[in-house]
Amino acid sequence: MQAELDRIVSEALASFTQAPDAPRLEQDKARFLGKTGSLTELLKSLGKLDPSARKEAGAAINAAKALIEGALDARRRAIADEALQARLAQETIDVTLPGRGRGRGTVHPVVRTQQRVEDIFRSIGFDIADGPEIETDWYNFTALNNPENHPARSMQDTFYVDGQDAEGKPLLLRTHTSPMQVRYARTHRPPIKVIAPGRTYRVDSDATHSPMFNQVEGLWIDEDISFAHLKGVYTNFLQTFFETDQLKVRFRPSYFPFTEPSAEVDMAFESGPLKGRWLEISGAGQVHPTVIRNFGLDPERYIGFAFGSGLERLTMLRYGIADLRLFFENDLRFLQQFQY
Ligand code: DAH
Repeated sequence: MQAELDRIVSEALASFTQAPDAPRLEQDKARFLGKTGSLTELLKSLGKLDPSARKEAGAAINAAKALIEGALDARRRAIADEALQARLAQETIDVTLPGRGRGRGTVHPVVRTQQRVEDIFRSIGFDIADGPEIETDWYNFTALNNPENHPARSMQDTFYVDGQDAEGKPLLLRTHTSPMQVRYARTHRPPIKVIAPGRTYRVDSDATHSPMFNQVEGLWIDEDISFAHLKGVYTNFLQTFFETDQLKVRFRPSYFPFTEPSAEVDMAFESGPLKGRWLEISGAGQVHPTVIRNFGLDPERYIGFAFGSGLERLTMLRYGIADLRLFFENDLRFLQQFQY
């Protein structure tokens, strides 16, 4: 009996050691400890022994069973451990790999200009206002002393959109930011000191004109704001914006219905590639009494200036960009140059 037990134990230990995985190990276990396993058969045969031999044989079988179960357990743990190690090795993340890299977005150069303009005017006490791009005829033209059928309306070729205002007039895409003068002034008390940047639209398209473009409107109204203030504020703005006082500014007489007198603002750099060339940079003027009245204010008491400048134009001059269309083509080679 003992010889047979020794044989079973060593056979069991050998097959457990060789079992490559858990299913195989459990099959091997059945061969020894299962219902018809060799050790189980021996246990069953105990009944045939006479009682004196039975006790000793029982103890021997149990000792063999304990050995086999111990070996089985050890191998189970070993197999589980190997599986874990294999999985860990396979799922390892190599933290020394370089990152995949993400494309960094950039602020569009015209938006960057808008932010600079806002910063500069905010620093001298101007409010920043925003308003609708779909505008009524009254705000875009009439309130700005540009009555229906007035020839000055033809200065701005207009996009009309479906829908009409309370007067039954067609709605339009604002052709300039100037209606924001009226919108803001009618909802604020003087002193009124505001800029209103934003998108504007005209039926226009070539290397220097886009059907959509950006302007910034400026308005300063109080009891004693003169053309001299306009000159000071605007000259200072240009020097700050272009980060140089090496530039000249001139106010050339012009015509706008909403200002009297009106001026075209020109500037010239005193150094750099554009040195000495006069560049048109803004419309401006002293706000017309009719417009002041449309603000809901008394033109005998309130006076001030307004200006309207193109943000694309400012951007082109600051960065030396020759073609306006580059701003709208979404060419990454162009846009990435503004990534800093
Ligand atoms: N709105 C004018 C345009 O788009 C620009 C302008 C001229 C605005 C004179 C003003 C101004 O505020 O005073 O051409």
